[in-house]
Amino acid sequence: MIYCYSRSRKSYGSYQQRIFHAGQREFSTTRIMANPNTVLGANPQPQQYETDLRWEMVDEYSFSHLHPAGSTHPSNEVLTYALDNSKKEGLPNIAVSPSQGKYLMLQARMIRAERILEVGTLGGYSTIWLASAWKGVRVTTVEINPHHQSVAQTNLAQAGVSNKVESLLGPGVEVLTKLAGEVKAGKRKKYDMVFIDADKINNWNYVNLALDMTRPGACIIVDNVVRRGLLADAEAAKTNPNVEGSRRVVENVGKDPRIDGVVIQLVGGKNYDGFLVATVNNDE
Ligand code: DHB
Ligand code: MG
Repeated sequence: MIYCYSRSRKSYGSYQQRIFHAGQREFSTTRIMANPNTVLGANPQPQQYETDLRWEMVDEYSFSHLHPAGSTHPSNEVLTYALDNSKKEGLPNIAVSPSQGKYLMLQARMIRAERILEVGTLGGYSTIWLASAWKGVRVTTVEINPHHQSVAQTNLAQAGVSNKVESLLGPGVEVLTKLAGEVKAGKRKKYDMVFIDADKINNWNYVNLALDMTRPGACIIVDNVVRRGLLADAEAAKTNPNVEGSRRVVENVGKDPRIDGVVIQLVGGKNYDGFLVATVNNDE
C-alpha cells in the first residue's frame, strides 16, 4: 500500500518530500519482523514487531524538540542510563517509548497525581517518568522478577527519584490484593493514577483490583492492548492468551459502571500497539 501525502501541501517542505518519496519506494508499508523478546514469562506465542520509518522519524523529530537536551524532568541522561543499564543487565527491550513515557508523566501532572500505582516495573523506565511528574508525586511500583527490581532500583537511584518510589516485589495479583486491603483498612491512601504494564493475561484482574483502591476521577492506563491490531481478532484470542487478556479488559471495562475508557492506538519507534485509557467514575 502506498501512503499518499498530499502533494499540494508544500509547506511541509523537504521533510514531507523525503517521507513522500520514501513512501513511494521501499518504506511504503510497515515491516513485520521477529521480536527478539519472544517467549517472555508465561507467554508461549511467537511475537513480531512492526516498524515503519515514518513512525520512527516522527517520534525522533517530535521528542527531540519537545524533550530536548537540557530537559531536567527527567533528563535525557538518566533516561538513557536506565535503558543502557537495563540492556546490559539482560532485561527485554520492552519499556514504553520516550514519547509514551512523557505522555504518562504529563497525564500524572495534569491530574496532579499524588499517588501512582504501577504494575510491572521492568527496569523502571516508566517509573522514572512517573516519579518526575511534579514534586508531590509518589509511585508504588510492583515487580515479580527480583533481578528486574534490582536493576530498576539502580536506575531509579541514578535518576535521583528513589525517595519518591516504593518498590514492591511479588506477583501482581497478590501484591495488589494486599495493597487494596491496606487501603480498605485506612492504612494507605487511595491512588490517583494506575499504570498497568505487566503480564497481559491478568490485565482485567489488575484493573478490577485497582478499582478497589482508586478515587473517583482517577486515571487507569493499560499498556499493549492493541497488539498490532490483534485486539480486534476474535480468532487470535482463542490461541493467544495476551490477545485474550487484552480483549477481556476492554470488554469488561465497557460493561462496568465503575469505569469509563477508550483505546488509543499508538505507533512509534517500536511498534503498533496502544493504551486503554480509563477513568474511575464518580458516584452518581
Ligand atoms: C511486551 C510486553 C510489554 O509490556 C510491552 O510494552 C511490549 C511487549 C511483550 O510481552 O512482548
Ligand atoms: Mg508494555
